[in-house]
Amino acid sequence: MKVSIIGAGTMGIGIAQVVLDAGHDVTLVSDTEASLKNGVERLRSNLDKAISKGAMAPAKKEDCLKRLSTSSSISEVAGSVIVIEAVPEDADVKKSVISNAERYVSVDAVIATNTSSISISALSKCLANPERFLGLHFFNPAPVMKVIELVRGEKTSDDTLKKSLDFAKSLGKTPAEVKDSPGFISNRILMIYLNESINALDQRIASRETIDTIARLGFSHPMGPLELADFIGLDVCKDIMEAIYSQSNDDKFKPSPLLARMVREGRLGRKNKKGFYDYP
Ligand SMILES: NC(=O)c1ccc[n+]([C@@H]2O[C@H](COP(=O)([O-])OP(=O)(O)OC[C@H]3O[C@@H](n4cnc5c(N)ncnc54)[C@H](O)[C@@H]3O)[C@@H](O)[C@H]2O)c1
Repeated sequence: MKVSIIGAGTMGIGIAQVVLDAGHDVTLVSDTEASLKNGVERLRSNLDKAISKGAMAPAKKEDCLKRLSTSSSISEVAGSVIVIEAVPEDADVKKSVISNAERYVSVDAVIATNTSSISISALSKCLANPERFLGLHFFNPAPVMKVIELVRGEKTSDDTLKKSLDFAKSLGKTPAEVKDSPGFISNRILMIYLNESINALDQRIASRETIDTIARLGFSHPMGPLELADFIGLDVCKDIMEAIYSQSNDDKFKPSPLLARMVREGRLGRKNKKGFYDYP
């Protein structure tokens, strides 16, 4: 079955790996040839890492890469059973991408967004057939995290939900169905935790290492909140908080001044090697 993924960044590449590993064909579409080239290099390196950890048989790598095609033209989504949008967290960019994709797929294809926080019902308004649309929220890193949040919009049909549940299971993931609400469940909880940790650092209540140690040793989290924010991307965290804030009008989702300052200064986390920590 052909699955198209639009966006070749952190999530697009992670989702592509999961879908290829499950045996489906993947067409990866992105806005620039450079992002595709960079994305495929990351995918190759992730497959190598999976092999070295014993999580994938060596022969599987070439098999996966044979089923991957790339394009900077959205028309290449034609023939897909499912299209997954994973472009930046900007409603206008997402609407333009999904409405364009809809022009090339058949009426029964599912169109999904990997948005972290934008309303599914609001996004669906740009589609001719909003019944086919829902949120398929993969977690980062997609090949490792075992749950997918399935977010049902006002118009999502039972048929779309059923196909998406089956798809999530075909990937070996556990689907978790939630209502469309600001931040869904995952980011509603997570962003408060990250933002408060950043506020505590800004108020010099403890060092970054101490905050992260408390979460790792006290809560048994594999990463502390500041390490996690770096891992997600500080720009992504800020965009998500702003999206939840604009939908909920709840002050607790206002990005911490320190987070806003770091993004302005170009400290985006692991992806550009400088965030709360440096990654030489
Ligand atoms: N990073 C995370 O931890 C995480 C986790 C879950 C969900 N998400 C969500 O997934 C989505 C993608 O996030 P990301 O971290 O992968 O972002 P990213 O910035 O790493 O990647 C975005 C990709 O989209 C491409 N792109 C930009 N505009 C485009 C367009 N008009 N058409 C086609 N491609 C375009 C870019 O070239 C890039 O390859 C966002 O909605 C984000 O909120 C992110």
